[in-house]
Amino acid sequence: MSGESKPLIIAESLSREYTLGETRVVGVNRIDWSVAAGELVVVKGNSGSGKSTLLSLLAGLDRPTGGRLIVSGWDVSRLSDKHLTQYRRKTVGMVFQSFNLMPTLNVMENVCLPALLAGEPYDAVRERADGHLRRLGMERRFDHLPSQLSGGEMQRTAIARALINDPAIVLADEPTGNLDSRNGTVVMDLLADLHRTDGRTVIIATHSDMADAHATVEVELKDGGIV
Ligand SMILES: Nc1ncnc2c1ncn2[C@@H]1O[C@H](COP(=O)(O)OP(=O)(O)OP(=O)(O)O)[C@@H](O)[C@H]1O
Ligand SMILES: [Mg+2]
Repeated sequence: MSGESKPLIIAESLSREYTLGETRVVGVNRIDWSVAAGELVVVKGNSGSGKSTLLSLLAGLDRPTGGRLIVSGWDVSRLSDKHLTQYRRKTVGMVFQSFNLMPTLNVMENVCLPALLAGEPYDAVRERADGHLRRLGMERRFDHLPSQLSGGEMQRTAIARALINDPAIVLADEPTGNLDSRNGTVVMDLLADLHRTDGRTVIIATHSDMADAHATVEVELKDGGIV
């Protein structure tokens, strides 16, 4: 290996505009940006500045309306629906403010679900889920339903679920927004550990300053652009 390796994420004039009747609303506006593999990126910015929009594009949950987005060699801006689904499953894991767990599935089932949907056999998936949940301190909660968990436990379950397909990139949108400061600190430390110990690229959008100490890169958005 020689020379500098390519960035893991490359955004070129990346835009997402929403059209509401006659009105056009800017989500993100012509962002030029790149992220090297293994960074822990903290994305800041006021409400409405475009943080969630940017993370949704990176997650492949949404499509750009302009520009290009290349992630880990995938041209996310041009993928067919089928390939976008594959990209979502293989490359990224996402953690949300409101946890987004399936209420009728227990912890173990929630964590296994994305890998089972990808067609993997249950035994192998369960073993991996077991390892992630233990590492996250959830070994005594496998059979609990989300409604039987604390907020911090729900978010740790969601982190295990984000890891189940072994993604290079973990995206977290306001992951501590529904947690008290003690649980918030625990969750931020766990996310930081995915970068520090596993070498994953972790991108956290947050209003909180709890992630600052872990950041290797900080970006601030304003009106959909990087300040
Ligand atoms: N589905 C949508 N339809 C129309 N406009 C949208 C949609 N989603 C987001 N927007 C607009 O895009 C802009 C960026 O929103 P976004 O949710 O990315 O901000 P944010 O930085 O995540 O804010 P917050 O800190 O409140 O979560 C806002 O003006 C918002 O109103
Ligand atoms: Mg948001």
